[in-house]
Amino acid sequence: MAEAEQAGLPRRVLRWTLIAGAVALAAVLVAFATLWSISEEQLSRKFPADPPALRVAGKANLAEGERLAQVLGCTSCHGKELTGTDFYGIQTPNIRRAAKAYDAAGFAFAVRHGIRPDGTALTWNMPSDFLSVMADDQIRDIHGWLASLPEVPDDQSATRMPVKRLGVAVGQLLLIPDVWRPEPVPVVAPKPEDPAFGPYFARVACAECHGFDLNGMIGGDAPSLPVVAKAYDLAAFRTFVKTGKNLGGQELPMMSGVARWRLSHMSDAEIEALHSFLTSLPNPGE
Ligand code: HEC
Ligand code: HEC
Repeated sequence: MAEAEQAGLPRRVLRWTLIAGAVALAAVLVAFATLWSISEEQLSRKFPADPPALRVAGKANLAEGERLAQVLGCTSCHGKELTGTDFYGIQTPNIRRAAKAYDAAGFAFAVRHGIRPDGTALTWNMPSDFLSVMADDQIRDIHGWLASLPEVPDDQSATRMPVKRLGVAVGQLLLIPDVWRPEPVPVVAPKPEDPAFGPYFARVACAECHGFDLNGMIGGDAPSLPVVAKAYDLAAFRTFVKTGKNLGGQELPMMSGVARWRLSHMSDAEIEALHSFLTSLPNPGE
């Protein structure tokens, strides 16, 4: 009896191990299928897409389009060549191709409303909730410049793992139309000499990280701009924007790259107008 028990034990253990393994595998498959179907339900939702025509006439200024794509960060998330890149495990789209596939109105709708011409939505890692106020002339210039570039294959540097689906399924990656709010949009972007320049520029170029009110975001590392800007006189601010080096000549973990990649393409007049706007803002609580 004892002998038989001993002989049977490994077989029983093996059987239970196999059963446990099968149950675990089934659980993983069910979890995967559930996540897939939740994300599919979200990603295939359709929103009204009837993009209004841009309210600007005339041809795109291609050089300005290229500059704006840098200043406004399209090149940091969509890659230097704008053919997409790895953004925290998610493959960003090739927007040279999107600019050829979508007319200017459709492209503007995707950028500002987060809705593609086919009615599907972008997730909020595309900052359409911040770019929603981008002026028509700036979108025309960026679209025109992108569409003028030769077609090249998509970048494929991101992992093939379903990071975006997972983010959508667990409710981390919200759909833009679910968080979007209507706001007035200028036809032509304010020029640096216009008092409207500061608020406009800070909204489209800084708010993505420094928050809608520029006072930083909960859970984010970016500080209150009214507070930190006052430490910089105009000359130091210009150096910061052009080189990414802070007051002490040091590198900052994220902001130095933002300065060199994006903000170094600002004009002197823009830098001066932005500095004067930011330093004129009251600190939070004042
Ligand atoms: C913070 C990163 C980030 C920045 C900055 C950014 N994008 Fe995006 N963009 C994304 C991501 C991520 C997606 C894909 C979203 C998705 O898959 O739902 C996207 C999607 C798009 C799409 C939709 C393409 C399609 O057909 O699917 C367009 C158009 C676009 N971006 C244009 C722009 C332009 C123009 C700029 C600059 C003004 C810009 N983006 C700046 C991250 C960014
Ligand atoms: C992609 C995110 C991002 C964008 C866009 C961005 N910032 Fe920042 N910024 C940060 C972060 C994060 C920090 C905190 C330092 C760090 O971690 O690099 C910071 C810090 C700063 C600082 C403090 C520097 C110091 O001395 O400590 C200033 C000034 C600043 N940003 C200005 C701006 C301005 C002006 C804009 C828009 C024109 C802007 N930033 C756009 C992320 C961003």
